[in-house]
Amino acid sequence: MRMVLMNGEFIPREQAKVDIEDRGYQFGDGIYEVIRVYNGKMFMAKEHLERLSASSEKIGIAISYSISELTTLLEELIAKNSLSTGIIYMQFTRGVSPRNHSYPTEAVTPTFVAYTKMLNRPLDNLENGVSTITVEDIRWSRCDIKSLNLLGNVMAKQKATEADCYESIQYRELSVTEGSSSNIWIVNGEKIQTHEANQFILNGITRQKIIQLCGENGIEVEEKAFSIEDLIDADEVFLSSTTSEVTPIVSVNNVPVKEGKVGEMTKKLQNLFVEAIISECGQISN
Ligand code: PDD
Repeated sequence: MRMVLMNGEFIPREQAKVDIEDRGYQFGDGIYEVIRVYNGKMFMAKEHLERLSASSEKIGIAISYSISELTTLLEELIAKNSLSTGIIYMQFTRGVSPRNHSYPTEAVTPTFVAYTKMLNRPLDNLENGVSTITVEDIRWSRCDIKSLNLLGNVMAKQKATEADCYESIQYRELSVTEGSSSNIWIVNGEKIQTHEANQFILNGITRQKIIQLCGENGIEVEEKAFSIEDLIDADEVFLSSTTSEVTPIVSVNNVPVKEGKVGEMTKKLQNLFVEAIISECGQISN
């Protein structure tokens, strides 16, 4: 039976219900995380839970669980669902309260939900790359918060889907910010570049791992916004996220990136990333 974690209790999936006046349901008033599971073990759980805690502080939701308590609960959730390769989705909302835009004045317990999903590594995309389009970034200016309010991201992803593409690359004025659900990188020669971690992007955990791996392997990284022109002219382009890892981008707006082949630096980073997974989670199967 599929078990989910709801407010600290493990219950069957069918019994997990949300109140119509939950603020997450009505306002998107909450935060979430997606954590990768390889070989039954979470990858970079501490970093994800620290970002969750940072997001909760930014919007004033008090999480009553410590990071180590959450880790134990999530490990139990993986075990109860016998998950090997997949993800954990988890969210906290501000809780249930009569509808009113301002935060409730009375004490409200946040609603906490977590569940697992089987999800293989995207081997075909990792090997052959994906196509993308560019779209204007219409989102708010606190994209650093991993908020449940994803309408801007959802609309951007839908444009990609309608264009038969995997991802939308968003731009604000002349600068590329990030994908609808990923961070975007360019490579020129031996140097890689991605938008700085400010309020216009989510500071991806995969992004942070790539920067760390580059530091350890003498690869130069510049954290600075680049333009659409830079994107089109780059030697290589790739995206990063928990579910997509280091995915090569082989075309932007129907124009191939260089010859439309996966670049050498992207392959090198993919290998370093897989080594990092194996050293934390053990040998991975697919
Ligand atoms: N998305 N930027 C945005 C807007 C994202 O939604 C994500 C992740 C990222 C990459 O972050 P990370 O490396 O921590 O996954 C960047 C998740 C996977 C999602 O919403 O499903």
